[in-house]
Amino acid sequence: MSKWLDNAVFYEIYPQSFKDTNSDGIGDIQGIIEKLDYVRELGCNAIWLNPCFASPFYDAGYDVEDYFNVAPRYGTNEALKELFEKAHEKNMHVILDLVPGHTSVKHPWFKESMKPTENEYTNRYVWTDDIWTDFKDVQGVFGSIRGMSDRNGCCAVNFLSMQPALNYGFANPQESWQFSTSSKEAIATREAMKEVMSFWLSMGCDGFRVDMAGSLVKNDDDSKETIKLWQNFRNFLDEKFPEAVLISEWGEPEKSLEGGFHMDFLLHFGTSNYMDLFRSENPYFSREGKGDISKFANKYMENYKLTNGKGLMCIPSGNHDMPRIAHKLDDEELKIAFAFLLTMPGAPFIYYGDEIGMKYLENITSVEGGYARTGSRTPMQWDNTVNAGFSTAKKEDLYIMQDPDEDRPTVKRQMETENSLYKEVKRLTNLRVENEPLCSNAGIEFLYAEEKTYPFIYKRTGKEGSILVVLNPSKKGASCEVNENLSCEVIYSNNGEAVIDKSIITAPACSASIFKIMK
Ligand code: NOJ
Repeated sequence: MSKWLDNAVFYEIYPQSFKDTNSDGIGDIQGIIEKLDYVRELGCNAIWLNPCFASPFYDAGYDVEDYFNVAPRYGTNEALKELFEKAHEKNMHVILDLVPGHTSVKHPWFKESMKPTENEYTNRYVWTDDIWTDFKDVQGVFGSIRGMSDRNGCCAVNFLSMQPALNYGFANPQESWQFSTSSKEAIATREAMKEVMSFWLSMGCDGFRVDMAGSLVKNDDDSKETIKLWQNFRNFLDEKFPEAVLISEWGEPEKSLEGGFHMDFLLHFGTSNYMDLFRSENPYFSREGKGDISKFANKYMENYKLTNGKGLMCIPSGNHDMPRIAHKLDDEELKIAFAFLLTMPGAPFIYYGDEIGMKYLENITSVEGGYARTGSRTPMQWDNTVNAGFSTAKKEDLYIMQDPDEDRPTVKRQMETENSLYKEVKRLTNLRVENEPLCSNAGIEFLYAEEKTYPFIYKRTGKEGSILVVLNPSKKGASCEVNENLSCEVIYSNNGEAVIDKSIITAPACSASIFKIMK
């Protein structure tokens, strides 16, 4: 596995909203280059960049029109190459967003595929053989594109209606229009995607976050064929680009890691109980103290046992698809949430702006297929200059409106304020990289993660010893007994320090404490 993942702390950048350097109201690659030092100084040494390829942007770029070219609004391929180079100079890594499951309807492959006459791309997508034959309950198909062309057939939709599904075959082909995964048509799609990977990896990118990685083979109930397909991709990468990292948006680590992914996200969908942490009705990390960590912890351990040694699970602070972490939690609660995120196994992901507690803007008009997600995609708040330092364009020309609150958090203010969320996040990223037992692949054991109660205690063990993490997000002090007698030395605390008396641990209200275990 690529060594750099052990110490990676990722920062997710939604390029539209990070930093605009040419005053057109939308972020660009030069803006990211300008802010590399900011990201590095926060303690993040890796970047996940959301799709930045040519696109009609009906789904914010997840509808790719040209896999080989940067969208002009963000810059050029040369600019992206410069980003890779500058990042590497600073000892940072950059992964791109690979969207292998579907393209835009404007992609030249789809234009060819829509033609009634047979050509090289006729079967590049999943089509039925008659305009009146729909997909009914084909698993992994979300509707169909019909009547857009003279081709007599329906094309499968992979997500939104203008995202036709690429053809990687069916697990058990039943109809004449369903190709097997070993058909030359399915293989042609797979090989075309390898060319996309090779192109960017050769240019200097360090790997991919893979969009809807589990969606490729249709009617693949147990995901066996999709897993095989990813093993094939992984073998290809191991041979040609052994350092390339693959991280899946799949949410089922026992499957994705089997497929050769290095890490899989725990997400707002799927079975991980991720939502219980920061976003459910009663999030565990709220000071109300009504949360329940046990379901998350049990599921995590179940997956951990299944996947340990094969790869990692990673937990994001949020992403461009869900309400921001600050939607339900204030800065003091967020500090404890970050103490958790930055001490768990797997590389942590900080969604841009979460480190200053940027708000989720409710009920704003959808932009580029964002719908309710738009409120998590607003422009970064850097300082108190015009448009919070994001852009010098006219306010009404910004890609998405900014948080109108006069008191909105900014990077500048938080850098100048003692005890700000930004400073706490920075303290924690430093702590993580300085302590080997906190790195991505060191072990974890939950010592106390009980139903509807606090605190939450776990032990991380690496080659250089063990570290104890004691989190009590609740507004009431909490005490518990663990299964071992501990002798510890504190290395971090926020808002009071937990007291350890052999096996009895007492944590002050709203606190996070981290200890080196001495024996
Ligand atoms: C998941 C991406 O994160 C989301 O933003 C996108 O809309 C869908 N996949 C479709 O590509």
